[in-house]
Amino acid sequence: MTKLIVFTDLHIVPEGQSIIGLDPFQRFSAGIAHVNRYHADADRVIIMGDLAHQADRASYERLKALLDRLVPPLAITIGNHDRRDTFLEVFPEVAQDEDGYIQEVIDLPDCRLVILDTLFAPPYDYPRSHAGFLCTRRLAWLDRQLETAGDLPVLLFMHHPPHATGFTAMDMMRLINEVDFYEVVKRRGNVLHIFAGHVHRTISGSSRGIPFSVFKSPAYQQPMPFDTTDPSLAVDEPAAYGIAIMTDTGVLVHTEDYEIAVREAEVA
Ligand SMILES: [Fe+2]
Repeated sequence: MTKLIVFTDLHIVPEGQSIIGLDPFQRFSAGIAHVNRYHADADRVIIMGDLAHQADRASYERLKALLDRLVPPLAITIGNHDRRDTFLEVFPEVAQDEDGYIQEVIDLPDCRLVILDTLFAPPYDYPRSHAGFLCTRRLAWLDRQLETAGDLPVLLFMHHPPHATGFTAMDMMRLINEVDFYEVVKRRGNVLHIFAGHVHRTISGSSRGIPFSVFKSPAYQQPMPFDTTDPSLAVDEPAAYGIAIMTDTGVLVHTEDYEIAVREAEVA
């Protein structure tokens, strides 16, 4: 029974900086400690992008130092806040596809993991680049991974949700070619679940008959209301990560608000 830990939207900043008064480095550090304590047996820790808030080299180096503490093996990709070139300067050993996108396929005994790079850049042209995009070459790569999965059900991991999630501002910068994406995904019929980030909320449901889970960030969360057009709002709610466990009949998906657990332990 494969166990996966899923983090998204770390938003690490340079030393001495914060986001709405919160320290993303400290909060992700606590997340790593929590995983090492309770889930050192995980088959992978998957990190789904927005690793560094400003895509600066110093933040990627701080992240690399933190990840050295992680006990389970790591798989990682990028999001709209990242720069592919700067990330690869600091993480040259990270898996890439044949075109240099930070995409990876991992076969485990009971599932195939397919990790997608949805960064709509270069050029780094904001706000356009905050949306997600899978170009023809990345979609063709995905199609090959689905085609060759054999009997293994496939779990997809991607920064941008490939469908609307109900937050107006975030929906404006979701994966912009969702129709093309689902055409590939539905063609093979073997995607069991889609995992995404970007929205900084716990959201689950289905799109085109395929279930999905979106997880909160370790750093900061997405506030109400649904209909705001301002994508820069943030709220101080507890940090979280996801846990996915393969079973004989499907997949279980948990959300772990690990900072709540820490506070409960301190009170006791
Ligand atoms: Fe994002």
